Order: sequence, then structure tokens, then C-alpha cells
Amino acid sequence: MCGIFGCVLKEGMAAPLIHASLKTLEYRGYDSVGIATISNDKIWLKKDQGKIDDVHKLLNLDDLPGSIGIGHTRWATHGAPLKVNAHPHSDCTGQIVVVHNGIIENFSELKLELENSGHNFVSKTDTEVIAHLIEANLKRHPLSLADAVLETVKSLEGSYAIAVLSTKEPDKVICARNESPLVLGVSENGVYCASDIPAFLPVTNKAVMINNGELIILSQAGYEIRKINDSSIVVREPEIIDWTPEMAVKQGYPHFMIKEIHEQPATLRNTLRMQEHYLDLISTFLDRANEVFLVACGTSYHACLAASYMFSKLAFLPTYPVYASEFIEQHGKSVNIDSTILAVSQSGETADTLAAVTCAQQRAATILGLTNVIGSTLTRVSRVYIGQQSGPEIGVAATKTFTSQLSVLAQLALRLSKKRGKISQDEMDDLEERLEHLPDIVDTIIQTQEEKVKHLAEKYKDSRVFFFLGRGISTATAFEGRLKLMEIAYIPSIAFPAGESKHGPISLVEKGFPVIFICPKDDSHKTLIGNIMEMKARGASIIAIVEEGDEEIKALSDDFIEVPKGIPEVISPIPFAVPLQLLAYYMALEKGHNPDTPRNLAKSVTVK
Ligand code: F6R
Repeated sequence: MCGIFGCVLKEGMAAPLIHASLKTLEYRGYDSVGIATISNDKIWLKKDQGKIDDVHKLLNLDDLPGSIGIGHTRWATHGAPLKVNAHPHSDCTGQIVVVHNGIIENFSELKLELENSGHNFVSKTDTEVIAHLIEANLKRHPLSLADAVLETVKSLEGSYAIAVLSTKEPDKVICARNESPLVLGVSENGVYCASDIPAFLPVTNKAVMINNGELIILSQAGYEIRKINDSSIVVREPEIIDWTPEMAVKQGYPHFMIKEIHEQPATLRNTLRMQEHYLDLISTFLDRANEVFLVACGTSYHACLAASYMFSKLAFLPTYPVYASEFIEQHGKSVNIDSTILAVSQSGETADTLAAVTCAQQRAATILGLTNVIGSTLTRVSRVYIGQQSGPEIGVAATKTFTSQLSVLAQLALRLSKKRGKISQDEMDDLEERLEHLPDIVDTIIQTQEEKVKHLAEKYKDSRVFFFLGRGISTATAFEGRLKLMEIAYIPSIAFPAGESKHGPISLVEKGFPVIFICPKDDSHKTLIGNIMEMKARGASIIAIVEEGDEEIKALSDDFIEVPKGIPEVISPIPFAVPLQLLAYYMALEKGHNPDTPRNLAKSVTVK
């Protein structure tokens, strides 16, 4: 997730407006910033790593000349957050500049081809190929800039929203979209393109939504929309946006948490665009390891717990999930050169996780990282790391970053399984296909179950305590459901592997005690039904998260939430966590709490 902005103004300088607009997009990414304008047939460009205010203090972003320009605020996916990787990116001649939000999946192949034909690359980004491809297309054929961009995007695989500026046609900004968001603004004084409405809301409330597969030409004459596949013109009038600036940053959602829950189909799609060689490299390290510790805190620990089942079931690799805050006490003396640590941290800055990593590193263990923040401390101390590509998460409670972590860990387990010959090609294809469908499944759950979850929250809002139970990998889902409900709705909750409940916790149960069961149709389904019966016999109110068509469990439940059927056990925590996130959110609202800023909690816990 990054923020892009572009404008063609009739009067006034573009740079100060681009700078101000990027500030409103900073929630989409903030590790580097850049602006390019065009004036006197020359491209003017300033960029650097760092937050917008810091870069502005250093470079003065406002004094670039000209009334046409593009800008970018970055959330690194390919290449560290360094000046050289900051956008805009140029072609060999410096006459074409591009800003991009998204991930170009086939950039390595394209880059190789371009390098072989003489193009000189300076950055490690996927974006730079776009500038060179436009250059190549302009050299090869006598095309307009818009047609060269059109030809270029046809060869891109993956997601993009781009804005292009070139001295070839210095009066235009060309944009195109596939999957990554793009919207136009229209005012008396000009036209604008942006990742998000807040970027131009201070200058206009007239917006034109851009669809996938569309290319736009911005000029003094206004905007022209064309379909990428056949160049046909699309006529679309602006609509009036009546959001306040605060609503606009949240794209009309009342809170970041619910916005981020709804973003999960898109963020999960991004995790499926992971660079293959990182997955291969990490799975090679895991394959060679003598012992593997999965180290993390909070929600990230729950992802590790689920991953321990994935690695064991798919790749026959035993791993030890460990709370980072306990790692030194528990394993500090025994961890050694033959140990491998896979540290999982959304922020990459959690003090307990970094302390565990430092301890293991001092004892010569191999450190692998999974994080959402490229450039974070975890990325710097890891031998190899993988960026989960979820975009910034603003709500304190982790939601989209959890499901993305799970998706990456599942892909690692699958790869390792293949490497170890533990899975047939057919099984592998089947699991990969189901992983591909997960974004749609999560979308369906949100579309069909959100209202039901809202009613559940209303019904159970006065319950003083909740019990979350699951078996096998669903234990991790149960733990995560409990953490979400506790941290944002402030409802004390308990979670156990369902089989453990009768060894103590069941004594709490009395009439009406709400027990949430996580019920994928896996090998433990029959046994889980026994656990449900135990609770029911003691008067518990059963709330089950079930697969569609699971009539047996539905008949035993007081309430149920359904997820689509046929989800393989090893990836079930991804869809099954979503109703629990929604439940925590709506329960917090019922109780009058702001889910985005739970008391006593910080987004990144940088103290031990
Ligand atoms: C819960 C939550 C926390 C974090 C934990 C680790 O919703 O967000 O439990 O998961 O503080 O944070 P990271 O993943 O940044 O290391």
C-alpha cells in the first residue's frame, strides 16, 4: 500500500498541492516520499527516504516549478526504504517518471529482458520496469504517451495504480489502474488523480471512480477514460462526495479497525503475490534447521501457533512456537548455531521479539523474519526476511496483518512440504488453488455474516465473560478470538484447546455462559461435537463458527455464524478468524468503546 497523487492545474504551482495531498495519504505509507513536476520541457524531481515532514525540511518539496506533477508516499514492498528506491522512478533518459502503488508480479522477467536490451536500472523496485517499458515502447513505435502507457500496462501482471509524466507530452498526466485504488478529482482549476479521495478533498468534492482495466489522460481539457483492452472511450460523470475529511481518511468507515477488516480480501490477494525466491530461501533455511523456534508476541504469536500445525501437518517439520517475552528464560541457554528462529512481528519493532532475536543471534542462531514493515529493526537483524505486504495497519488491534501472516506462513509450509516430497503435485495444486480462493471466501464471509455478527454482539453484550474453544489448529483461532474481544471490548475471556476445558475451566460454566466454538470440518470434528455436548449439558449458550451445511453442529448451537464449506484445515484460521474480529469490533461498539484506540495499548510495544 502506497499513496499516489497527480495533478494538472490551470493556475498555480503543482508541488505545494502535491505535498499537501501526500500528507493526507501518509496513512498509506510513510517510509519515503517524492514529487516530480514538469516545466519548460524539463522534469524536476525531489525524493528521499523518511517521513514527508522530515524530507520537506531537508529538501523543500514546494519549490519545484510547474503546474503539472505527480507524487508518492511509500510503503516499501520491493527494495528497502532508501532514497534510491523512493518514487518517482525514471527511465534511462530521465524524460519519463512514474509513481506506482501495487505489486508487479512479473517484474523480474521484465527487468531481465529490459537489461538485456540495454536498459540501466538503479533501484531495487518493481516500479522502475514501468518507466523503462514506456521508454522502450516509445522508441519502438511512433506512439502517443497514452498509447505507450497502454502498451506497457498490457505487459504487466499484478496490481497497479500508476501516474506517469513525460517531457514527450508535457501537458499531461497518464494514469492506469488494475486492482490498486485510483480515483479522479475534478475542479474549476484542474484535474487530479489519487489513491484515495482525501488527497483532493480540500480542493474538490467532485470525484470520478476509476475501475480496473482503465487508463486516464489528465490534461487542461479535463479527463479522458479509456479501456485498456480495446482503447474504447468510457464516459463517466463526476459524483459529489459528502464525506468529512475525517471520514474520508477512513474511506467512509467509522473506524480504521472495520476498514482494515474489510480490506482483508485485498491484503490476502497481495500475500499471494509474494516474491517466490524469498519463500524458497526461507523454506530452504527451515528445511536445513535442526530446531525451529517460531517467536512472536500477541496476535503474531497466534499466527506462529497456527503455523506450528501447518509446518507439522504439511511438511512434517516440528517447530516450537514461543512467546517472545519468554524466549530468553526458556531457551536462552540452549539456543545455538544449529537453531533457527523465525521471528514474526507486524511492526518489526516489538521489544520482546527483538530481545529474543538478539539473544539467539548472540548464540549464532539463524534469524529469519516475517514482518509488515520493511526497513524495521527486524528486517535489519534477519538473515532473510519476508515482507507480508499488508500496508499500514492503523487500528491498534491487529486484523488484516494477522490473516496476511497466516497466508505467508501457509505458503512457506506448502513450499517446504514440496521440497521435502511430503505432498503430491495434485495435493499441492489443490491447496494452492484453495489458497487463491481465500480472498473471495473472506469477502463472502464479510458480505454475508457481518449483519448476523452485529446481532450476536447486541444479544450477548451483557455477558460478563466468554469462553473460546477449538481443537488442533483452531486452538490458535480461539486464542486470537479471545484476545480481540478482551483488548477492544474489555470483556474478560478464556480460551483453551477444547479438549483441555474438562481439565479445569469447565467448572466455570453455568446456565447461559457463552461458549464460542471454532468448528472447521476437519479430523477433530467428531471429537469437537463431544466437547460441545459437554458444554451444552451444563447449560452453556453455544455460539458456533461452522461451515455451511454443518447441520449437526448448527442443531446443537444457540447461535451460529457460517463460513463457506470445503476450507482445508491448515488454512482454516484465516476465514474462521474473520467473524471473531467482527464480533470483537461490534461488541466494542455495543459497550461504547472506541475500537481503534483501546486503553493502555500501543500499536507497537517497544518496551520489554
Ligand atoms: C493485538 C495486537 C498485539 C500485537 C503484538 C505484537 O491485536 O496487535 O497483540 O500482535 O503486540 O506486535 P507485532 O506483531 O508488531 O510484533
